Amino acid sequence: TPFNAAIDADPDVADEFAFAFDIDGVLIRGGKVIPEAIEAMKVLNGENEYGVKVPYIFLTNGGGKTEAERCGDLSRQLELEVSPGQFICGHTPMREMADRYKTVLVVGGEGEKCRHVAEGYGFTDVITPGDILKANAAVSPFRKLTDTEHANSKDLLSRGQLSDIVIDAVFVFADSREWASDLQIMLDIAMSKGGRLETRSETFDESPPFYFSHNDTLWAAQHEHPRLGMGALRSIVETTFESVTGGKKLETHAFGKPQVSTFEFATRLLQKWRAAQHGLESSKPPETVYFVGDTPESDIRGTNAMNEASDNDWFSILVKTGVYQDGTEPAYKPRQTVETVLDAVNFGIRREM
Ligand code: G3P
Ligand code: MG
Repeated sequence: TPFNAAIDADPDVADEFAFAFDIDGVLIRGGKVIPEAIEAMKVLNGENEYGVKVPYIFLTNGGGKTEAERCGDLSRQLELEVSPGQFICGHTPMREMADRYKTVLVVGGEGEKCRHVAEGYGFTDVITPGDILKANAAVSPFRKLTDTEHANSKDLLSRGQLSDIVIDAVFVFADSREWASDLQIMLDIAMSKGGRLETRSETFDESPPFYFSHNDTLWAAQHEHPRLGMGALRSIVETTFESVTGGKKLETHAFGKPQVSTFEFATRLLQKWRAAQHGLESSKPPETVYFVGDTPESDIRGTNAMNEASDNDWFSILVKTGVYQDGTEPAYKPRQTVETVLDAVNFGIRREM
């Protein structure tokens, strides 16, 4: 079905409520599906005592691949089809900034993937840390590009000197794979004359803007304890900038949860998805959206803030399969705490029916 085409409303579909899911620590952990997630999706698709089908979307801070590629992975893991029309990742909103900045530094992710994501969003001149290292290996003394990285990196010197290039904005799309050299390159740009490579500002107040796709200090990966995430890198960039500039401040921006704007973006997506997939009224959001997450600081904080800001009910549910550790006091209080995503889905459906 084309995305905006009107289809007949499905009589078994719930009009009044919907679900939105965080991914890491709720559905997936360390690249593997959390087993209850497969059952939870079946329950949403009608395998429940009421025979009701419930619309749902995914809202992750993660990233590093195109939305289509990520949905392909998720479809295999959850054993059902996930469409980009029901999916938002950390860098999805960056798409809206592609015509604002010409030359951008894109940081993070595997190989060339984030460059391709950025170009897919419409950014026309995407430079990566690898491109800069290829032009001047002395930028980061202990980092050697592999042969593949060298071959894939752009030849910036074909444009003249590095100092001919001005970075208009820095975007951290996904977790850094090379924290030391990425930090060095980001700081060099933050300390430059207005983003001009290889220069130093005299005043340290002319950095181009920095955007991070989210601010999670920790996230749930394979290890039993949460791992450091992009928010940790963001703090390091800001505090190191302060120490190397004698106390100047670098203001950076973060997208993703817990920003209310990210939840507003999700509301618009959910409205379109309900109409396209289920034939429900597109101008009306569901009365209640159950948000299921594992990280109090992003998922619960954001859902509760959205609940305050919106006319509709955003209901926060915390699971115990990710960042939140059972028995501790969450920094932001969920309206319900359950063991797994399956319990969350059953809880929401029973509360409604
Ligand atoms: O890098 C991914 C991570 O910080 C969080 O992903 O799905 O838990 O929002 P998610
Ligand atoms: Mg999570």
